[in-house]
Amino acid sequence: MGAPVVDETLAVSTRGLRKTYRTLRGTRVAVHGLDLDVPSGGVHGFLGPNGSGKTTTIRMLLGLTRADAGTMHLFGTPVPRSLPRVIDRVGAIVESPTFFPSFTGHRNLALLAEAIGTPPARVDEVLDEVGLGARGRDTFRSYSLGMKQRLAIAATLLKSPDLLIFDEPTNGLDPAGIHEIRSTMRRLADEGRTVLVSSHILSEVEQIADTVSIIGRGRVLAQGSVAGLIGAGGESVEVGVKHPGAAARALRDEGFTVDWLALPRGTDAADGLREYHDAEEAGLLTVTGAEPGEITRVLAGKGLWVERLVPSRRGLEQIFLELTEAEGLPTPARAPGRGAA
Ligand SMILES: Nc1ncnc2c1ncn2[C@@H]1O[C@H](COP(=O)(O)OP(=O)(O)O)[C@@H](O)[C@H]1O
Ligand SMILES: [Mg+2]
Repeated sequence: MGAPVVDETLAVSTRGLRKTYRTLRGTRVAVHGLDLDVPSGGVHGFLGPNGSGKTTTIRMLLGLTRADAGTMHLFGTPVPRSLPRVIDRVGAIVESPTFFPSFTGHRNLALLAEAIGTPPARVDEVLDEVGLGARGRDTFRSYSLGMKQRLAIAATLLKSPDLLIFDEPTNGLDPAGIHEIRSTMRRLADEGRTVLVSSHILSEVEQIADTVSIIGRGRVLAQGSVAGLIGAGGESVEVGVKHPGAAARALRDEGFTVDWLALPRGTDAADGLREYHDAEEAGLLTVTGAEPGEITRVLAGKGLWVERLVPSRRGLEQIFLELTEAEGLPTPARAPGRGAA
């Protein structure tokens, strides 16, 4: 085993991270050789369906549960071995924190600040940072769910951490609350912090994330910049054309990738190309790797007239679905060994 290369420009890095839970029914691998890299600065979406190992990973990073194997670094510092050296640079919400309902937001934070030895003046600053400056003197119980969650975020800011880790912070919030948390996370990253946010709903994070990792069954399936991942999916063009069999052949001859989106009525997908070479009825193809103009040129050259031409860009959501479907995810809850099917 070679000496591990430690990259200090990464806020979070894991290699071969593994965690198996022992349950009454046997063992369950929750994290299965996870290699995660979160760059320093920006919002990183840690994405995966329920049960894919997000919370377990976060708990291991924070020293709340022990890893079975693998290495973890926070800002280049090995954890959990040297966690005390970096823990003040990390703020996290893993479980919903509890606040006193009849105390004001300000008073709740002042108590926390005292407990962790943060100067009381910091309380007003963090309330401002999450946009609660004007509501700090109202009782916690009068807050909306979004405000309650923002108070939780404010609490993590008391120590002025460089890295914030939020485990599904928008769970249970209404659209307005989700919007509040999103813009708060974006603002914190724009101030120079790193925000690692987990979610099982891609669209919730896609808009504000700079980089993402998509995990399934405890492993990283894709990782990179949002723009890069969507770009890697490639642009495709939906083409409606008569004689779709002939059209598909002409486009394939030019080296483009052609898939059937919809075939003429009564067509067997497997034999579609052969049997319906000369079908009069229009079919729908998806063509990848070609500009709409090239498609029109190739088909017109064969005397085939395009009736519909719609460029489509794969969203992260689609990539996520494809990746997780390829993995056979989500994993259905398994009945014990000899249980009923
Ligand atoms: N304390 C535990 N004991 C046993 N199994 C657990 C425990 N916590 C999580 N798991 C299992 O580990 C897997 C990953 O869970 P988790 O990390 O919570 O995923 P996520 O946060 O992505 O939903 C799931 O199959 C879950 O049922
Ligand atoms: Mg979770």
